[in-house]
Amino acid sequence: MTEKIPKVKALDSSLAFLREGYRFVSNRCANLHSDVFQARLLGKSFFVAQGEDAARTFYAPERFTRKGALPTSVLHLLQDKNSVATLDGKEHHHRKAMFMALMRSERLELVARLTSEELRNEANRVVGQEVSSHTIFRLALGRSVCRWAGLPLEGAERDRLIGQLGAMIDNAGRVGPPNWLARVRRWGAERKARRFVEAVREGSLVPPEGSALHDIALHRDQDGNLLPAGTAAIELLNILRPTVAVARFATFAMLALHQHPRARQRVASDDDYLQAFVQEVRRTTPFFPVVAGIVRQPFTWRGRSFVEGERFMLDLYGTNHDARLWSAPEDFQPERFLGWGGNAFTLIPQGGGDHDQNHRCAGEWMTIALMETMLRTMTREIRFTVPKQNLTVDLSRMPALPKSGVMIRIEKVL
Ligand code: HEM
Repeated sequence: MTEKIPKVKALDSSLAFLREGYRFVSNRCANLHSDVFQARLLGKSFFVAQGEDAARTFYAPERFTRKGALPTSVLHLLQDKNSVATLDGKEHHHRKAMFMALMRSERLELVARLTSEELRNEANRVVGQEVSSHTIFRLALGRSVCRWAGLPLEGAERDRLIGQLGAMIDNAGRVGPPNWLARVRRWGAERKARRFVEAVREGSLVPPEGSALHDIALHRDQDGNLLPAGTAAIELLNILRPTVAVARFATFAMLALHQHPRARQRVASDDDYLQAFVQEVRRTTPFFPVVAGIVRQPFTWRGRSFVEGERFMLDLYGTNHDARLWSAPEDFQPERFLGWGGNAFTLIPQGGGDHDQNHRCAGEWMTIALMETMLRTMTREIRFTVPKQNLTVDLSRMPALPKSGVMIRIEKVL
């Protein structure tokens, strides 16, 4: 069926995107009565779309390249150049396999165990105090991922790195000075990661086999060469930084526990429900708003030919809230995931399609394992209360967080 793709009239919609945040795409889809439209963003023309059909189109293997698709302010704080996210075809598959090999079940069990241990340690340290759950989650995740990845870091030096990783996440969606400052802090983290990579190659540092530092430092490309040390450092950060970012999902999980006391009781005693709860938090949390790509292999969709070089943007947040896919999408209902059969194109907070063949998040299983373990620890091993505070979420701020960071008072660690 051929249909005309409507165009947004505005000369450029970048400021509107920053103003409306996560709702930018849905607002226009509603006004234009279409799940795809054309708009100019940062001076470039994009096809912007949401929903399952759009996700299937976007995640057809090899159709899009990510190279050049992200603004540099975002790219430099997140994936960075020459990272797996910017590769295509066989080169991408080869590098991606290195990441996916780190996600074996015994490695996920280990990182989950370390995280629960670090969370209990940090909670013990602040018993009787009011603390931001986002802050303690960040520290627990940062400390555990450093151990898990094989980094010889402790104390203030390790916590400084966690601060640098946190700043990259907080400022990726911002423009101007906060973004530049976070980029400067990123160089510090990159230098540290690079020193570790070089020490492993020289033999002065021997991390456990199968750890991220070991596998990334000694990874060989398709021609049998080690990665340039700077690229290996970037890929190491691509494990550390997003693991710290899981603190945002965990903070939204705390908000949901607070707002749904009956669900909190059930999470504390029922593992199937806990898993469903984690999926519903991932579906509803405003985190990555969109992903973007540039056409590599021409294709036809909705009767229109898309040619090489055209830009496409997929609305992740809008697809996770699409009323055609989710009943009462704005309501928090973990029950919808009890017995859910799975669908790689409808629940897409971390991208869609196939992990190995496409750019879907390499750390999705790890994210789920970490959220499950943190929720189990918080609801079954730690007694906490939630004081009165401002829990509003500003959907124009990307990435978003409840205003207060979800303050809790730790009463007791069991
Ligand atoms: C905090 C929760 C997380 C969110 C919301 C998230 C989200 C995403 C998104 C949206 C993408 C891009 C998908 C695309 O381009 O199609 C991505 C890619 C990626 N993520 Fe995550 N992620 C998270 C956690 C993690 C973790 C814990 C790791 C590793 C330990 C990780 C490693 C990666 C890597 C390496 C890529 C690039 C994959 C590729 O290009 O093939 N992420 N993630």
